Amino acid sequence: MPQTIIVLDFGSQYTQVIARRIREANVFSSVLPYNSKLSEIRKQNPVGIILSGGPASVFAKSSPKPNPGIFKLGIPILGICYGLQLMGKMLGGEVKSSDRREYGRGTLNITRKGTLFNGLPSKLAVWNSHGDSLAKMPTGFRVLAKTENSSFAAIEDEKRNFFGLQFHPEVEHSEKGVIVLKNFLTRVCGCKGDWDMGDFLNSSIQKIREVVGKERVILGLSGGVDSSVAAALIHQAIGEQLTCIFVDNGLLRLNERDQVKTLFENHIPGKLLISKTGSLFLKRLKGVKDPEKKRKIIGKTFIEVFDLEVSKLGKIDFLAQGTLYPDVIESVPVGGNPAALIKSHHNVGGLPKRMKLRLLEPLRELFKDEVRNLGRKMGLPESVLLRHPFPGPGLGVRVVGDLSHTKLKILREADHIFIDELFKHKLYHRLWQAFCVFLPVRSVGVMGDERTYENVICLRAVTSSDAMTADWAQLPDKFLRNVSNRIINEVKGANRVVYDISSKPPGTIEWE
Ligand code: XMP
Repeated sequence: MPQTIIVLDFGSQYTQVIARRIREANVFSSVLPYNSKLSEIRKQNPVGIILSGGPASVFAKSSPKPNPGIFKLGIPILGICYGLQLMGKMLGGEVKSSDRREYGRGTLNITRKGTLFNGLPSKLAVWNSHGDSLAKMPTGFRVLAKTENSSFAAIEDEKRNFFGLQFHPEVEHSEKGVIVLKNFLTRVCGCKGDWDMGDFLNSSIQKIREVVGKERVILGLSGGVDSSVAAALIHQAIGEQLTCIFVDNGLLRLNERDQVKTLFENHIPGKLLISKTGSLFLKRLKGVKDPEKKRKIIGKTFIEVFDLEVSKLGKIDFLAQGTLYPDVIESVPVGGNPAALIKSHHNVGGLPKRMKLRLLEPLRELFKDEVRNLGRKMGLPESVLLRHPFPGPGLGVRVVGDLSHTKLKILREADHIFIDELFKHKLYHRLWQAFCVFLPVRSVGVMGDERTYENVICLRAVTSSDAMTADWAQLPDKFLRNVSNRIINEVKGANRVVYDISSKPPGTIEWE
């Protein structure tokens, strides 16, 4: 068993960021609900415990509290934000409620370095987000640092190895926060830092085997990073008990179905079912112009097709999904049992309840770059791991207005040229997303001596870190000129190319 740090989750949106920072320090971490039984905690034989932050106030009647026995286990404990206040109160100190919330950047004045601030300067810019603060430390503690609004912004009890931080060392805006956490891990808990993604892979495989037993699992494969890594991982764990279903909805990019097939043949040699149902989707979408209606039809038809494929397979118990942590980050509730509620939030892609499938989400603790690393460990190709996101409704939301075979063909060919050129010029990986949009506009042109009256292709390329906000990418003029020339010359049915220079907000990345 690797050296383990347990993070008790009190509902902070940063809990998994703490876990991630621990993994980055090559230490194994396990996030447990705040009210985990002492026996469950002991079972993991942790070398340290971190109490996360949380939105509750220690004064609230229903405020989440850990089993007080954790303070008697004889292992180091670090409380962060709400975790500090909780520890202060439970060990006999005093917390005061303040009407002045300390939120955002502040200066931490370090008066005593102790173990946590070893090797750090005496002033640090840190990120705060709290209303209550500690007014009196419990016996045995001494102060390490202050901020403008809190006299006890960092405290330690050297004898018992209990520590508290009012700020969030885990967030990027906290200067040297990572070092503070590392000091806790290595200098206090004695972590060796010898854990890595390979260990994650092995323990995930074991966990999947335990959970699934002899049952069968289905996974809806999109060909993107998340579902491909999830498929490879689950396949390594349970082999033929996994069946992947890839729905070709007729709204895929050029050669996409073949790429998924090749990925499977070369890297995930398990059962892959390809459902070629493009004509059904296109039939239902015929004449539909409204973007929301299109999305709904595509979503509903997908579920129908998926359901039908599953029903042919006999008894299935689990639905696997490549859900990542950022997909669930917004669902952490105030109070209650965060871990339990995170699960109930999760939609099962709208699958009918009678299917009674249990969810298997082996990537739900990871961030995108960690998933890519995991994929690398399993030998998946970079072309899959570094792929741009592609929306579920596919080209259905990239042909503006109603769809037709001809429009889709034009869009596919143009898009292929754009992406091909981005790769050739080593620009693809600098972008969050790049694609073409088919505009239902015809314009006059001239080719050779002939007048043309054809369609418009719009190029869309954006930079972003999370798709919540995005900026249009400043691609080189020469590059754009070349792409435009190639599309107009090579794609029959397109005679004009435009470049979208709208940011998000107010625009969105996709057009529909
Ligand atoms: P927007 O257009 O809202 O897109 O700025 C933000 C990100 O989400 C992707 N997107 C989707 N992904 N199903 C998906 O799986 C969808 O229905 C969907 N719609 C948009 C989009 O490509 C971008 O990365």
